[in-house]
Amino acid sequence: MSWLGGLKAKVLVSEPLTKHTTIKAGPKAELWIEPLDKEDLMALIKKARSLKKEYFILGLGSKVLFKKKRIPLVIHLGSENFKRCVVEGNDIIASAGVALNKLLAFAYENGLGGLEFLNGIPASVGGALMLNAGVGWPVRLEIGTFVYEAEVMDKLGRIKTLSQEELKFEYRRSNLKSYVILGARFRLFKKRKKNIRIKMEKFWDYRKATQDLDYPSAGCVFKNCDGQSSGRLIDLCGLKGKRIGDARISARHANFISNLGKADAKDILSLMKLAQRKVKAKFGITLEPEIQIV
Ligand code: EPU
Repeated sequence: MSWLGGLKAKVLVSEPLTKHTTIKAGPKAELWIEPLDKEDLMALIKKARSLKKEYFILGLGSKVLFKKKRIPLVIHLGSENFKRCVVEGNDIIASAGVALNKLLAFAYENGLGGLEFLNGIPASVGGALMLNAGVGWPVRLEIGTFVYEAEVMDKLGRIKTLSQEELKFEYRRSNLKSYVILGARFRLFKKRKKNIRIKMEKFWDYRKATQDLDYPSAGCVFKNCDGQSSGRLIDLCGLKGKRIGDARISARHANFISNLGKADAKDILSLMKLAQRKVKAKFGITLEPEIQIV
């Protein structure tokens, strides 16, 4: 570990990823590193590159399933320097490590509306941008719509600001995959705090009513295809409640896989494959994972 000399980062050895994924599964990260600030991150990325060390950037772990047995290095933007929110007129500039609930609380305090639909999504700003987090009810709403610019670091450790024109957001996808997201400027609009609160509650109530929040999960495991709810398709295949090991297709929303205790990636992937097979056979539709499988 002498290669880490000179970094100011917090370093943990053998850190269980069960602690850092919402589905609570995965092996241990051989190294878990939280850089102190952008300069420290830059130094870390440059070192990792020169030594050809593979790394994975993990936010709040809501859309990731680690299937590999060996995860050498996870970088997490968890230091206070990556958790800052600043307001400038109708804009909020948020660092990548800010949790969406903090961002929403900050927007509420400043009377800025637009992002209420994100209420209840257990992601960081970085993760939410990477996957263009959003909802499909009552209409399709996605975080990317509100991003005016994003600050990123490339694989060589160079910092860039990408403008709205350079950013591409699609359904559960962005063109940010090759970067480490450092933060974003959200362009919002003035709104009465009371109305912000009402809207946030509306989205939270819908989430509570339709999703399975009783057990650890990764949210929807498959993307919707051609506007069809994958949950509905899996449900129509009669798979609700199907269990493999400690993983179970939720009886409430069939696009959710619950971890009943000690589910491992193998159990979860077996259930995903089963759902894919059945949906393909019945509807001719190929379900594409929404979660990132590492
Ligand atoms: N439905 C069923 N059975 C199920 C699940 C759903 O019949 O097991 C029916 C519902 O009754 C409803 C329709 O399918 O009539 C749509 O269900 P829902 O409103 O739950 O939406 P969804 O299309 O299944 C999408 C997003 C969710 C998001 C919700 C609500 C995807 C893959 N999923 O789900 O996102 O929260 O809309 O806005 O786009 C996530 O990405 O993790 C996620 C949960």
